[in-house]
Amino acid sequence: MGAATSAREQRGQEKRPLIELRDIYKIYKMGGEEIHASDGVSLSISQGEFVAIVGKSGSGKSTLMNIIGALDVPTSGQYFLNGKDVSHMKDDELAGIRNRMIGFIFQQYNLLPRENLLGNVELPLLYAGVPAEERKRRALAALARVGLKDKWRNKPMQLSGGQQQRVSIARALAGDPSLILADEPTGALDSRTGHQVLEFLRQLNGEGNTIVMITHDSSIAMMAKRVVRVSDGKIVFDGSVDDYGALLRREEESADVSAVIHPGTEEHLEQ
Ligand SMILES: Nc1ncnc2c1ncn2[C@@H]1O[C@H](COP(=O)(O)OP(=O)(O)OP(=O)(O)O)[C@@H](O)[C@H]1O
Ligand SMILES: [Mg+2]
Repeated sequence: MGAATSAREQRGQEKRPLIELRDIYKIYKMGGEEIHASDGVSLSISQGEFVAIVGKSGSGKSTLMNIIGALDVPTSGQYFLNGKDVSHMKDDELAGIRNRMIGFIFQQYNLLPRENLLGNVELPLLYAGVPAEERKRRALAALARVGLKDKWRNKPMQLSGGQQQRVSIARALAGDPSLILADEPTGALDSRTGHQVLEFLRQLNGEGNTIVMITHDSSIAMMAKRVVRVSDGKIVFDGSVDDYGALLRREEESADVSAVIHPGTEEHLEQ
């Protein structure tokens, strides 16, 4: 790999990285064909960062999320999470890592409809073997942080979409994870509610939580601090939101220029 990778690696070494992906490949065999869903990804993320991973449909975002979230292992390459090599772990070891270290936020909230809010937020603590009383205390504290403590007896269906997403954020927070991993957290929300959820994630980041978020929405990505863009399983941009904003503007301008050079039929008719 070229100079860009070593520059990224060097930057990651300034602070101890929480996440370190080294030359990660995820290859699916479909019939006779190989699909490189991750195609040589190297990425370091330090504690306290707020990173948005963006890219078109099929570019490899979920593949990366599954590896970072210890839901899947790469075909080759190494993944260190908080200094621990998780790239070759077995399913039960991965489950342990997920329980202890990662809080997940999903697009569809993934709340249990029959459980009340407290039961939903307690769930990861139950898996982690936290005793009942402490579970309840921590779950209520997490619900309080998202402003929903007084609704702890309610069922998810009795809440708005934005409130349900806040419950799933509380569930992610309850275990006091090293990493919050969000997959399209605003995908099911209207734009205003989506931005409110993002404001909340920013606040959590301001309190020191490390957040990695997958989104296809540029305006949501712009609310992170750093943006990583993937295309065909490769990282094609990695920089600050300011640099990402400048890149988007350049892309819009060149699209405009191409519209002038190749005008649509209406403009031809007007001439
Ligand atoms: N289990 C699988 N078996 C075979 N191919 C897969 C599998 N999972 C993903 N792929 C392929 O890997 C590539 C990356 O998929 P991935 O799900 O990571 O994309 P994505 O960026 O998350 O897309 P979207 O925005 O649509 O969710 C795609 O070409 C996809 O078809
Ligand atoms: Mg996906």
